Amino acid sequence: TAKLHTLATAAGKKYFGTAVDGPDLNDAAYLKILNDKGMFGQVTAANAMKWARASPHPDATEPSAQGQFTFTAADKIATAAKKNGQVLRGHNCVWHNQLPSWVSNGGFSAAQLSSILTTHCSTLVSRYKGQVYSWDVVNEPFNEDGSQRSFVFTNTLGTSYISTVLKAARAADPTAKLYINDFNIEFSGAKSTAMLNLVKSLQSQNVPIDGIGLQSHFQVGKVPASLKSVMQQFTALGVEVAITELDIAMALPATQAQLAQQKKDYQSVIQTCMEVSGCVGVTLWDFTDKYSWIPGTEAGKGAACPWDENFAQKQAFDGIAAGF
Ligand code: XIL
Repeated sequence: TAKLHTLATAAGKKYFGTAVDGPDLNDAAYLKILNDKGMFGQVTAANAMKWARASPHPDATEPSAQGQFTFTAADKIATAAKKNGQVLRGHNCVWHNQLPSWVSNGGFSAAQLSSILTTHCSTLVSRYKGQVYSWDVVNEPFNEDGSQRSFVFTNTLGTSYISTVLKAARAADPTAKLYINDFNIEFSGAKSTAMLNLVKSLQSQNVPIDGIGLQSHFQVGKVPASLKSVMQQFTALGVEVAITELDIAMALPATQAQLAQQKKDYQSVIQTCMEVSGCVGVTLWDFTDKYSWIPGTEAGKGAACPWDENFAQKQAFDGIAAGF
């Protein structure tokens, strides 16, 4: 069988990777593929490095009180990755979701929130220093209309929270590439323009920024035609880009026609990354339908990954291999 990371690196990319979540790592059939030499050269923790996660999941880093860090789940993923020679994409320092209520509802002043954010990101980033290729320092900062999302950090600090957290990340691990990551910036429009403008503005203020992550949660038959031109606009600023959370969902039950289209869609995403020299790698938002987040999020949708629920390779797998 083709080895996707091996194909990616032979084609000049830095990695081919996947998201992994705590529960996945207790599944022997899952681990066999995850750790198949040359298949994945990079992993992203799907949840374990986030600020918090709804109870009862233990996989979060500062979930219940200021300064009380828990790294059990994140360390498990990092240790396994190291053992298997896989680099990490850190995910993430700040996001409006999975943000604990002690932060959102703590009534903190601007100075306090800035310090809370700096400490959170520094602690997280320094812990995995040396193992991380890139960090999603800021996740999903924009609304669809290109305005900044309203949440505790913008509401209290304005958009300066972005430069604060990027500087904290740089100081904590000077070798990690620092990314801003979002979805629907794969389409040209207000949101991708806002990302372009944000990066330009950070660069003009000498704020460290190395990359833009395009999440790429797509629907079968609807890979945006603008993917390449948007990536080229981003890389023209002198930053790199990556496909950070690729999955391609379909209406359930999966049909042969949809699975065949999904193969073409996966192949076209990989080909597009190949056509943009500043596109450094591609990460699946988990590789198997067994652990995909899609059915739990979008009712009636699923079958979004290149391996099915029983760990059989789908046509999509061949599409990826053919794309490199
Ligand atoms: C998702 C996880 O996969 C789910 O397990 C969790 O319940 C919600 O978050 N964009 C992101 C990711 O940046 O962190 C999200 O991950 C998917 C959307």
